This record gives sequence, structure tokens and C-alpha cells, in this order.
Amino acid sequence: MNRMIKLRCSLRYTARALHQNLPSGSRPASTAASKTNTEHPLTPEQIFAREDKHGAHNYHPLPVALEKGKGIYVWDVEGNRYYDFLSAYSAVNQGHCHPKIIAALNAQASKLTLTSRAFYNNVLGAYEEYITNLFGYDKVLPMNTGVESGETACKLARRWAYTVKGVPKNKAKIIFANGNFWGRTMAAISSSTDPSSYEGFGPFMPGFDLVPYNDVPSLEKALQDPNTAAFMVEPIQGEAGVVVPDPGYLTTIRELCTKYNVLWIADEVQTGLGRTGRRLAVDHEEVRPDIVLLGKALSGGTYPVSAVLCDDEIMLTIKPGEHGSTFGGNPIACQVAMAALEVMEEERLAENAQRMGELLRSELSKLPKDIVTTVRGKGLLNAIIIKETKDYDAWKVCLRLRDNGLLAKPTHGDIIRLAPPLTINEEELHECVEIIQRTIMSF
Ligand SMILES: Cc1ncc(COP(=O)(O)O)c(C=O)c1O
Repeated sequence: MNRMIKLRCSLRYTARALHQNLPSGSRPASTAASKTNTEHPLTPEQIFAREDKHGAHNYHPLPVALEKGKGIYVWDVEGNRYYDFLSAYSAVNQGHCHPKIIAALNAQASKLTLTSRAFYNNVLGAYEEYITNLFGYDKVLPMNTGVESGETACKLARRWAYTVKGVPKNKAKIIFANGNFWGRTMAAISSSTDPSSYEGFGPFMPGFDLVPYNDVPSLEKALQDPNTAAFMVEPIQGEAGVVVPDPGYLTTIRELCTKYNVLWIADEVQTGLGRTGRRLAVDHEEVRPDIVLLGKALSGGTYPVSAVLCDDEIMLTIKPGEHGSTFGGNPIACQVAMAALEVMEEERLAENAQRMGELLRSELSKLPKDIVTTVRGKGLLNAIIIKETKDYDAWKVCLRLRDNGLLAKPTHGDIIRLAPPLTINEEELHECVEIIQRTIMSF
């Protein structure tokens, strides 16, 4: 079933649920009970219907209504517990509501929340010092969402191209890889090769070019253009379906970007912070990008926090008033990010992700090949490909996984991403493997 048909079916389902569960003419969103969900909790169907009625239809959620999270688990409004195998697209690497991160959030929230960057505050510098030392870059530029870190990197690359590399005014090019995903802004969709991201939203940002992912000759050709400012790429393509490049690809990117004086921007928004079994995914090949983008797990999923890391030669090309964000680098974000990074280090989440990932892939590779055709990934960023038949597809597998107590989401039709919080232990992982096996075998 294609995406639109599924969406329509889901709308019919939710509309029916609304009429079955509410007295006719009632207006759920206008009552205190429906707002708070406490005195007369809504059923899952009522929750689906309320979102459907009042919210934009820009997502197609799996029908499960969650109200609580702790560690690797989430609970729905009826008290059912699930293993979270999406981790909010790798934002919850440290596990839901990690006590240290929540404590940092709460402590700062009752003291000072936002100054804007019009004034100094006593937290931003501490965070800047901590994160730049941890990752070994001269400077950080704090933003909020992952896509803003990508926008910031594009601006830095263009500015660097004009002021350092000597590219003629308005001629700078940024190269992206086919299948990339870095968000939903106009710039991000301008580099997208996915029609569901860009179709109907033109005209697009000029100065963006594409090369196939994991294809060195095409990349080298693009980098030879003297107007090329940067190559922006994910070390593993997450949204494209956990596409892992050949060993050596990252090393070659480094060599070629150095050779042709082009900046390498590594989008580690999804792959970074322990997810793939190293602090950064580029650490697998021990290479250093010119610009690193972080987001998602930089707050452990508690707050929108993103960051751009690079050295002075690049960062200082942007002067006061030329870039920024009201909330970027606010005191809560800084405290939360420091706590989230400390948890990643103290709990050795990257090492655990490496070990648990190997275990997960070795167990999943025992699944019948006529249903699960591919198992791939690194660390705890993994995917399986489901061979679709008239009886089942990735969406149906995810629905049955949900029924069996594990939440995962299809990406690009037949691919299911499997990415639990990095705090998962061996016993829990075995239980999850058992759920996945049982689910697959039931088809
Ligand atoms: C690699 C990558 N970059 C950037 C983004 C955008 O992050 P955000 O949704 O926080 O804007 C995403 C989101 O999934 C991502 O996977």
C-alpha cells in the first residue's frame, strides 16, 4: 500500500473512532478533561482523532498513544509497556527521562531560562568550553534543531568560500549525496532527492549539487570545480534507511576535500553521540571533518539543542549580527547538553552500542531470508528490509511488533529502522530479539 493510501485509511479509521467513542456533537478539545487527560483520560482512538482533527497532517504516526517514558521503555495511555526501538529518531540515546539530564533541566529552568544572546550569561561559556574540548574543535555555534545546524553549516561554507577560498561572489556550490536527509527547511529540501520532501515546494535554493552516495569518482569530479565550497554528508544515511558506505569512504572524503580545498561537513545529527558505536561515526575511520553537526541526542531528547563545531578559520568568517537564533545557546539548552554529553561519556554509551549492535545484527541475521532480506547497520543504528507480499509489509510488521510490545517505524516503504536507546543491556536486547523473531515468524 503506498503512503497516501495508508494515510487515507488511517484518516478513515480515526474519523470512525471519533464517532464511535464520543457523544455526537461533543467537542473534545474544548473540555478540560480532554486537555489534561487526567480526570477522564481519552482512549487511544480519541487521542488519534483529536490530533487528526486539529493538527496538520504532516506525519503518519503508528497508532499508539504514549504518555510515559523511562530508560528504554515507553508506556501508552492504557498502561501497556513497550520497548522503544526508534528512540525518537536517535534523540533519546541516553534513554527516556534520564535522571541526570532531567535534574539539569529542572535546576536551570527555575533559575534562568533565556537571556537571548543580547547579553552574556554564566552558563553558555561553560558549555562552549566543554563541548569544544570534548570534540577537539576551536569553536561551537549553538542552534536548536538539527536542520538549523545544517543551515548554519551551509552559511559558514559559503562565507568561507568567498572570504578564504576566493570563490567569486554568489558562485559557491555545496555538494550533497543522493538520498541525503537533513530536515525540512527550504534549503534542506532543495538538496533532497526524495520527491515526498521536495515535490510541490519549488523554486529551490541554487548552488546545490548532488553526487551518488558512496561513489568516489563522482565526488572527486564535483570537488574539482573551483567554486565548490563544501561536501555535506551523513557518515551513515539514517533516513534513507541506514545506508552504510563502504569501509574507507570517509577516509577518502577527507583526502579529497583536503586535496581540492573543499570543506567536509559531517552531518552527525543522527549518527553522532554514541549511536553507531563511537562518539562520532567518523571516529570509526579516525578522520576529522572540517565542520561537524550535532543535534537530537545532544539533549537526550529533552529539549531542542543542536551545535555546529569547527575551527576559527571557518567559524570566525561570520561576524556579529550575521547569524543567530533567539533560543540558540540558552542556559537550559547548555545545561541539558552538558549533562547529556556527560551521560554519554560516564555510561560509556558508545561502547555499549558497539557491543549490543553486534549482538543484535548477529541474532537478526538468523531470521528467514524470504521475509527479512537484509540486516544492516553499525552500533545501534540498524535496519532490516522486509520482502513485501500481499499478506504483509513493513507497516504491518510494525503494527504487530507494537502488539507484541516493541515500537519501530518503517522508513522508505520496506525498511524498518531498529535503534533502541544506547542504555539497553544484553538481557533486554535478547528479549527484544525474541519479540522481533516471534513477530516475523507469525507472518
Ligand atoms: C542526519 C540528519 N540531519 C538533520 C536532521 C534534522 O534534524 P531536526 O529534525 O532536529 O531538524 C535529521 C533528522 O532526522 C537527520 O537525520
